[in-house]
Amino acid sequence: MAEKDLSRIEPIGVFDSGYGGLTILKEILAHLPQYDYIYLGDNARAPYGTRSFDVVYDFTRQAVEELFSRGCRLVILACNTASAKALRTLQEQLIPDKYPGHRVLGVILPTVESLSSTTKTGHIGLLATPGTVRSHSYKLEVAKIDPDMSITEIECPMWVPLVESGEFDGPGADYFVKKRIDTLMATDPQIDTLILGCTHYPLLLPKIRKYTPENVTILAQGEFVARSLENYLQRHPEIENEASKGGTVEFLTTENTDKFDSLASLFLGSDVSSTRIIL
Ligand code: DGL
Repeated sequence: MAEKDLSRIEPIGVFDSGYGGLTILKEILAHLPQYDYIYLGDNARAPYGTRSFDVVYDFTRQAVEELFSRGCRLVILACNTASAKALRTLQEQLIPDKYPGHRVLGVILPTVESLSSTTKTGHIGLLATPGTVRSHSYKLEVAKIDPDMSITEIECPMWVPLVESGEFDGPGADYFVKKRIDTLMATDPQIDTLILGCTHYPLLLPKIRKYTPENVTILAQGEFVARSLENYLQRHPEIENEASKGGTVEFLTTENTDKFDSLASLFLGSDVSSTRIIL
């Protein structure tokens, strides 16, 4: 069999601090299975959500540069914390200076754009990491699409550690999930739409659903991000034409591969065999 010319493979990069971006990758693969992908989880340094702006920017930049060096021209930050704290600087400084022709997209805008078709009361709840909440990125984007919409933002500092440690379906998770949802609904009982503003949170979805009032619609981001990527590729033939279409996924992690492979296989519902890298 002829060897593949690796220099011609141009995968799409998908980056997260850890396992959360797999919830986005899963939807991307369901919508756009034809492309090649590289998933990179910085599990060794997760969580990002409690880290400072500068640290999140540095870690994200290192990961994006790693993916660029592996042939990705387009990288999706499948991480709200990185999207909130690093996306703009990457787009406005790093890329024009060092990587012209490359692109980085985030997850916040596609999520916010879906709100007007979901909410009736105009009252939105956001559950996210401390980093995302304190950046007020969602509040700022929501104000741009509809200044009358009200958004209540609540930090959930324990939720990512629960997922990263594999405790997302254990009884201990119930306490932390219920506590934050009770706080959110007590702050604004008119909320009818809840954004899971962290890509790790869909892994806690059965518990989140259990403690959220039935009339509240819960928005996980994977579907919106996948649709928005599809739309982006249609509008940017210069990126789409170059993206290789072998239908492969390569997994990279900065942590132990055994743990990554078993949890990632569970989340994706298919076997994962990762490679450890150092950023
Ligand atoms: N999954 C990420 C997010 O969407 C990051 C979580 C973290 O590392 O704290 O925010």
